[in-house]
Amino acid sequence: MSTLYDTKIFMPCDHAPAVRHLAVIMDGNGRWAERRGMPRWKGHEAGVEAVRRLVEAACRRGIPVVTVFAFSSENWKRPETEVRMLFGLFRRFFISERKSLVRNDRRVSVFGRRDRIPARVREAITALERETERCRRLHLRVALDYGSRREILEAARALARECLQRKIKPEQISEELFSGLLSPSGVADPELVIRTSGERRLSNFLLWQSAYAELHFCPKFWPDFDESDLAEALDSYRSRTRRFGALAPPPDRPSATRQAGENPRGMGRATVLVTPGKEEIGNESQDDSDRSDGSEKPLLAFD
Ligand code: FPP
Repeated sequence: MSTLYDTKIFMPCDHAPAVRHLAVIMDGNGRWAERRGMPRWKGHEAGVEAVRRLVEAACRRGIPVVTVFAFSSENWKRPETEVRMLFGLFRRFFISERKSLVRNDRRVSVFGRRDRIPARVREAITALERETERCRRLHLRVALDYGSRREILEAARALARECLQRKIKPEQISEELFSGLLSPSGVADPELVIRTSGERRLSNFLLWQSAYAELHFCPKFWPDFDESDLAEALDSYRSRTRRFGALAPPPDRPSATRQAGENPRGMGRATVLVTPGKEEIGNESQDDSDRSDGSEKPLLAFD
């Protein structure tokens, strides 16, 4: 008798689709410098070079959106001199890269808290965002003074206010509505999250948005990350099977397999729901009450 894990039933769905949104936790600048007997800021400086390389490599590989974690809300706990140095580096990058970004059709946007960022850095960000807003070849998103839990809390508070003001009912709160309140909406969820330096955590980075992302951990420190490491991460991603909580249909029913869908809010992940005699590609969040076709609850979908 077959079990759920019998290969006849537990078949992989399609291989992962192309990476359209890559997110990177750039870790290890400090250790990179310390290992070389250098001050930590040298590691951050080399980290900027690695960002430049990543952008080039992503362009060559046709990845349209790249998000990098440049400064977390927790990074304020670092010594003041390091924080000041980091913001000096960011500002210099935002100013010095402007022309080349526009020339190469690359957009930059920054998300996270703005109120604690030094005014001069804020100005550089605003100018860069304005000048590159029409660029389309690649979108580099920089998370600065960013923390995922905080943005989730802010979204929850906003929705609670809407409920109190009777603008919406609690049951109207959907994943889509919630995602739309996270900063910034309008960008699909990352399919792949890379973290360097051998650490294996998300560290409060895109927690909601990475719910179904594939994770890749690279042992190298960020300043050493190069195109061959990106290629390795993409190869590893391509070799994986993305099921989004569903099971694939038996081998004689290949029509039900699809690759993951994508829409501007990163919602609507395609899920294979298999009911006897019925196949459907639907949003995983869809519960029975949403099912307009009156079909039964899937038998073989689980997380
Ligand atoms: C982690 O290294 C990295 C950061 C705190 C982010 C800084 C990133 C850069 C300077 C790259 C440049 C980015 C842009 C957008 C221009 P760490 O200091 O935590 O390393 P450690 O864990 O070895 O101490």
